Amino acid sequence: MSAGIDLENVCCDFGSFRAVDHANVSVRPGEFFSFLGPSGCGKTTILRMVSGFIEPSRGVIRIGGKDVRGQRPNQRPTALIFQNLALFPLMPIWENITFGLEVRGVDKTTRRAKADELLRLVDLPGAADKMVSQLSGGQKQRVAIARALAVEPQVMLLDEPLSALDLKLRQHMRAELRAIQKRTGVTFIYITHDQGEALAMSDRVGVMSQGRIQQIADPRDIYNNPVNGFVAAFVGENNVFTGDVQNPSQGMASFATPHGTFRARLGDIAGQTNVKLYVRPEHTALTKAPGPENSIPVTITEVSFEGNFISVLALSDSGARLTAEIRNDGAATVPEMGAKMHMSFDAARASILPDADVRS
Ligand SMILES: Nc1ncnc2c1ncn2[C@@H]1O[C@H](COP(=O)(O)OP(=O)(O)OP(=O)(O)O)[C@@H](O)[C@H]1O
Ligand SMILES: [Mg+2]
Repeated sequence: MSAGIDLENVCCDFGSFRAVDHANVSVRPGEFFSFLGPSGCGKTTILRMVSGFIEPSRGVIRIGGKDVRGQRPNQRPTALIFQNLALFPLMPIWENITFGLEVRGVDKTTRRAKADELLRLVDLPGAADKMVSQLSGGQKQRVAIARALAVEPQVMLLDEPLSALDLKLRQHMRAELRAIQKRTGVTFIYITHDQGEALAMSDRVGVMSQGRIQQIADPRDIYNNPVNGFVAAFVGENNVFTGDVQNPSQGMASFATPHGTFRARLGDIAGQTNVKLYVRPEHTALTKAPGPENSIPVTITEVSFEGNFISVLALSDSGARLTAEIRNDGAATVPEMGAKMHMSFDAARASILPDADVRS
């Protein structure tokens, strides 16, 4: 069984400080949904409200369609996993996993069978009788997940559960978590400040800044169609130009900057100030002759080999510092330091966007 979660105009105030500001989101039953944002943006506060450890100052939270205001954490169909796993070092793994069932009076034979089943689910068969100290970081993480699943929650709430692991293991556990979520069908709400993690695992992502949800979309849309500069900059790299919108028409516009006037897609800028042009480094081209549109004369100032791509820094004749990325596919010519070239970009892959949705 899995349940959906609805947040309607949810706010959380700590004194005069608003940590979560009118959050509106509907997480679907069985969905893997991530909240992504920088430290302090309100991610953990949202999880604590869903799990019942704090109550919203305003707004409604529904789990499985039911208003959960006033319900204590142990009355809600949720299970929470923190970065600090809080496993019991003096209990074997199987008892750790089924501790919640023991509390509920489930007999030992049933508990042991349940532990074995869950250990198979998280790909740790044979670990039942080991002690916590005998497991690696990633294995402990799986035990924590098995323990949370033991009480058959409809919703799993995961607060940066992979942040203590090293990079390789983190990447492996991403795929594992995703697979466990698909196998169980339980709704996952996952919190992270790691964009790679959020994009790789999630059905949808909610990007947050300063207590506000900036955009909710699937990972591709977040990356390819960010609604504002905050989302564009938090999820990926950009060349950013300041300037003025001219001749908007049919979703496109010209953008007059000190470095030239460029054509680009026009985002929703109605009533917004601080509008800028965003161009991803991998969406630029470097050529000897000027490009067909949006072309800027530059001098190459730095070329660094990054393995799967080559990062190129360039200084435009007008004084802008720009970045290009060239895929290392063997076909691309690598520019030389000091070379005079032209950087250009497709209008369809550049966006004119407002800064961010911040409190007014
Ligand atoms: N109990 C509290 N009392 C006062 N302020 C709080 C409390 N809990 C959180 N805050 C503040 O609310 C804001 C959001 O905190 P929260 O823990 O939700 O951030 P976060 O997005 O999870 O950050 P991180 O990535 O660092 O964990 C922060 O500015 C924090 O200082
Ligand atoms: Mg947090």
